[in-house]
Amino acid sequence: MNNKNALHALLVWAGLGFSALAMAHGDVTPQAVNTEGLEQLGKEWRDENPYRAPYANNKQAIEIGTSAYTQNCARCHGLEAISGGIAPDLRMLDPGIEGDEWFKERVINGAVRDGAVYMPKMADYISQEGLWAIRTYLESLHVEE
Ligand code: HEC
Repeated sequence: MNNKNALHALLVWAGLGFSALAMAHGDVTPQAVNTEGLEQLGKEWRDENPYRAPYANNKQAIEIGTSAYTQNCARCHGLEAISGGIAPDLRMLDPGIEGDEWFKERVINGAVRDGAVYMPKMADYISQEGLWAIRTYLESLHVEE
C-alpha cells in the first residue's frame, strides 16, 4: 500500500469508527434551538432560571424546551425525562435555584470521568436561552423522589 492509500484507509477506518459511535448513541448532532420570543440573555450565564413563572412567556419557554429537550437530551435522559436508566431522571432535579445551579453546572461542564465523556458539554452547542427553556420544561415535569 502506498502512502496515499494508507491515508485513505485510515480516513475510512476513522469515519467508520465515528459513525459506529454515533449510532450507538443515536443522533449525536445537537440541534440549534430557536428561542425567538423569549428574553435574550447575552453571554453571561444567569444563576437562576429567568423563564420560570411568573415570567410572562413561561408557557412559550416550556414549548420551546419540550422540543429542544426531545432533540438533544432524550436519547440519554429518556423521552419526557423519564429515565430508562442510562442517565439520571431529570424530573427529580430540585425545583428552584438549587436545581438551577446544578443544571447550569452540568450543561456547561458536561460529565467527564477518567477521560470518558458521559455527557457532552451541551452549552457548547445550545444557547443559554435554549438551555433555560429546557430547564423550564423539566420543572413542569418535576416529581419528588
Ligand atoms: C450522551 C448522553 C447524554 C446527553 C445527550 C445528555 N446527557 Fe445529561 N447526563 C448524562 C449522564 C450519563 C449523566 C450523569 C453523569 C454522572 O454520573 O456524572 C448526566 C447528568 C445530567 C445532569 C445532572 C443530573 C443529576 O441528577 O445529577 C443534568 C442536569 C443533565 N445531565 C442535563 C442534560 C440536558 C439538559 C441535556 C440536553 C441539553 C443532557 N443532559 C444531555 C448523559 C447525557
